[in-house]
Amino acid sequence: QAPVRVALLGCGTVGSEVVRMLLADADELAARVGAPVEIAGIAVRRPDKHPELPQELLTADAGELVESDVDVVVELIGGIDPVRGWLLTALRRGTSVVTGNKALLAECGAELAEAASASGADLYYEAAVAGAIPLVRPLRESLAGDRITRVMGIVNGTTNFILSAMDSTGASYAETLDEATRLGYAEADPSADVDGYDAASKAAILASLAFHTRVTAGDVYREGIAGINSSDIAAARRLDRTVKLLAICERVAAEDGTESVSARVHPVMIPKSHQLAGVGGAFNAVYVEAEAAGELMFYGQGAGGAPTASAVLGDLVAASRNRVAGGRGPRESAHADLPVRPMGQT
Ligand code: HSE
Repeated sequence: QAPVRVALLGCGTVGSEVVRMLLADADELAARVGAPVEIAGIAVRRPDKHPELPQELLTADAGELVESDVDVVVELIGGIDPVRGWLLTALRRGTSVVTGNKALLAECGAELAEAASASGADLYYEAAVAGAIPLVRPLRESLAGDRITRVMGIVNGTTNFILSAMDSTGASYAETLDEATRLGYAEADPSADVDGYDAASKAAILASLAFHTRVTAGDVYREGIAGINSSDIAAARRLDRTVKLLAICERVAAEDGTESVSARVHPVMIPKSHQLAGVGGAFNAVYVEAEAAGELMFYGQGAGGAPTASAVLGDLVAASRNRVAGGRGPRESAHADLPVRPMGQT
């Protein structure tokens, strides 16, 4: 059986773990997929900075790698430009895409999904939301026949790590942010985490999937945790509460019966007895409420190299199996364009 050829774009905290797993577990993955999964190339900005990687695979030219003879592009660079162009090129050529790029999906998800749909390529993005936790697939597939009313929870590991440490050890905001960066939880620019942009992108992706509409990051009301200090945490503790950064996406009905979607990200003081209060470290936890299913809770490691690589590998196995057996991955809903409430209105 011909190998499935994979182009990897970006090789940081998550990408290097993806390479390690692909090489270490090659035989097992080949058996699961029905063909070897082979790394055709790895695009990094500075090949000379990666002595640990197989040198013959490295290139600084991501555009050329995308246009070479590959079956799947795995993108772990992040950001919108120039990645958007590379992924659109791949999808238009019929090359499947696996990405963890929440900012790009929250901004250009519709454009990517249309390109995938037009060429018949797969577009998978489990790693974009909540690290290792399967959440995209349940919303996109398992619950696609139900009517979701609310998705709410902790979707940013870095800020949860910071808030949990401030509460339990009384450590300062700056100390814990440095630690989160050292542990590989924080984004390259940690402002994406602490100012709530990362959580807002994830909320946009979750709301789009849950409500079969298109919500972009700009539609999400956003407040981060930069203004939270140790006296806020102490005040919460005196009330037997703790502070968590929550993403809340809801279906809202107006008095006239018309429906819209509201999505917001902001710190919330929650009772210590609430299950979300016990979610510590870089863990994420998300509640999904659906009319028939009732309440579901998803919990696990939301950031970090290995947990996020697990989600990437799962998508890569799915995309590779489709290449080998000729299937197609999940399709996006024909979006109903449920209107999105203006920011700040709840
Ligand atoms: N910086 C992100 C977080 C990584 O802390 O949640 C996972 O998306």
